[in-house]
This record gives sequence, C-alpha cells and structure tokens, in this order.
Amino acid sequence: MNWDDTTDTGAEEERLVGSVADREDQAVEAALRPKDLGEFIGQEKVREQLDLVLRAARARGATADHVLLSGAPGLGKTTLSMIIAAEMGAPIRITSGPAIQHAGDLAAILSSLQEGEVLFLDEIHRMSRPAEEMLYMAMEDFRVDVIVGKGPGATAIPLELPPFTLVGATTRAGLLPPPLRDRFGFTAHMEFYEPAELERVVHRSANLLDVEIDPAGAAEIAGRSRGTPRIANRLLRRVRDYAQVKADGLITREIAAAALAVYEVDARGLDRLDRAVLEALLKLFGGGPVGLSTLAVAVGEERETVEEVAEPFLVREGLLARTPRGRVATPAAWAHLGLTPPRSQGAGTGQQDLFGA
Ligand SMILES: Nc1ncnc2c1ncn2[C@@H]1O[C@H](COP(=O)(O)OP(=O)(O)O)[C@@H](O)[C@H]1O
Ligand SMILES: [Mg+2]
Repeated sequence: MNWDDTTDTGAEEERLVGSVADREDQAVEAALRPKDLGEFIGQEKVREQLDLVLRAARARGATADHVLLSGAPGLGKTTLSMIIAAEMGAPIRITSGPAIQHAGDLAAILSSLQEGEVLFLDEIHRMSRPAEEMLYMAMEDFRVDVIVGKGPGATAIPLELPPFTLVGATTRAGLLPPPLRDRFGFTAHMEFYEPAELERVVHRSANLLDVEIDPAGAAEIAGRSRGTPRIANRLLRRVRDYAQVKADGLITREIAAAALAVYEVDARGLDRLDRAVLEALLKLFGGGPVGLSTLAVAVGEERETVEEVAEPFLVREGLLARTPRGRVATPAAWAHLGLTPPRSQGAGTGQQDLFGA
C-alpha cells in the first residue's frame, strides 16, 4: 500500500489512523487476535459479564444466549465473537448485514448451522428489513418460515433450527430497531481503551511480531492510537519499519516519535486530514461556526469524509463541536495547533456563508 495516498482519496481504509481494516491489516490482525478472554486486554466490565454468561451456559450444557456487541471500529468486536466461540468450544460462521441481501440468503445460512454454532453477524444494523424479520423468529423460537412460490400461491414452510448463538456487532447500537435489540440476552458496549491498556496491546503485539520495544516507545505509540487497538497495531508496524531501516530495530520513544512524524500522525493521534480540517476551521473561518459543506470544500474533501472520518475523533478529543449553526473550534483546537484565537471569536466573518451550509 502506498502511504502517499493517505489523504488523496480520503477513504478511511487508506488512512494510517483510519479505523477500518485494509488487507494487510486483516492478515496481521488474524495473527494478533487474542484467542480467549484471558488474553483480551481491557474492557473489564464486558469481560467479567461475558465470562459469567459463557460459564453459566457451559455449566448448564446449553447454548449461550445471543450477544450484541456495540462500539467503534477496531475495538475488538470481531475478536470477541471468535473468543465467544472458542470459549464455548463451538464452531463459528461469519457474515455481515450488507452481505445478506434477501431473507433467503439468511435462511440458507441459518438452516445450515450446527447445534451450538456461533453465527457472527457483523454490521447487523445494515441488514435488509425482510432478513431482519426472519431473524426475530430465528433468535426467539429457533425457527424460520421459508416462503416457497410467489403471489397468492406462496406458502410458508416452517423449518426448525438447531439452537445457536447469534453474535451481532454494530458501530451504532442506536440504529437497531428495538425488537431486534430486545432479542439479545446480553449487550456489551465496548469503550475506547485507556492509554495504559493500549500500551499492553502494543507490548503484546510487539512480542508476537518479534519486535523489540521499550516501555517509553510503547507509551508513545499508545498515546497516538485514538483509544483503538487496531490503530495501535497499525502504528506499531509502521514504527517497526522505521526502526529497522533507520535504527537498530529497537523502538524507543524517540524512534516512535520520529517514525510517526514521517507518517504525519501527531502527538495526539491526529493525521493530515484531521489537521487540515482544524486548520481550515481556524485559519479560514476564524474558528467557526462554519457549515460542513463549506469546510469540506475548503479542505478539498467530500462532505461525508469530513463528517464520518475526521469529525468523530475531533469531537471526541474536544477539538471541534458540532452546533446547529455549524462547526466550531474549541479553545483546545487553537492550543493544539499553536494558534491564538481572535478576540471576537464566534462573531463570524460572513465567510461561512460563501458556499452555504
Ligand atoms: N482487547 C484487545 N486486546 C488485544 N488486542 C485487541 C483487543 N481488541 C482488539 N484487538 C486487536 O485489534 C484488532 C482489531 O480488532 P477487531 O476485533 O477486528 O475490531 P472490530 O471488529 O471491533 O472492528 C485485532 O487485530 C485485535 O488483535
Ligand atoms: Mg470487525
């Protein structure tokens, strides 16, 4: 992959700190995935609760209740689904909401499940409506109605399913219709990771990848990883490259900082696009408020890219606020870019209306 592309397309998967996995990631991720709950770092509450759910099911010799995992990309949802299967000693089938176009696709998957199997349904909020309705019955009664034929002659043939565990994952639990949400026996909300937890993730991955790293080096990478293990692993690999080429392979704080400067990931984890958005907001629009479309034009990006890729992190970091009048920079944004806010901040310059909001 060519890092020069990082912000040309703005596509999240092409960015170093983006949270969607690319192909290289997927291969390495598989190797770095914790295999059981004991290896899974952080998310203490989720781990404790899930441990109880799974232990109890095992003790009863039953199939575990359906589990819903919600949280931002890269926090470990896919990993946890595999751990659930491993802890239950069950096979796992992996699919996703967008992959299920028709209810028939889902019926085919459901009817081929083995008893106790874990069905992992990623991006469950993006499933089609008919498939969703079929899933209600499958989750509750382990039964589906397969419709044969069309029009007045169509008949529903009931089909018994073996008990299975549905593990649904979503980045937006709020988007799930309540009847679907209610059918999960256990819902886990994954939080962003603390720096200390990410340091452990970095050490663990370095160990598995046979990379030498000292504690300060791991802390430096963890601090720039946006609370996300996937990003921590990705930054670790880029820093490893740098350490091999420019130094003796050992990752220290200095090496990590120098490497991440090359990849334009700053001390807080902001990348080039994040900073471009902030700079435009501060330098061109005096800190806002400015409409999203205007801001996107100013940085030469699609509106969606700015809204979905850059903004969530900037908002979470307290650098940018979304207000009814438009995007506004916070005092922390001025400080982060080393700029001084104008005294009349917030008065508006009229510029924000040039392109409309
Ligand atoms: N708690 C954790 N401990 C260690 N590594 C983790 C943890 N959570 C996620 N990871 C790592 O981060 C990567 C992304 O995790 P993944 O489960 O694919 O996230 P999601 O499905 O939520 O997008 C995986 O390679 C995994 O190794
Ligand atoms: Mg995933």
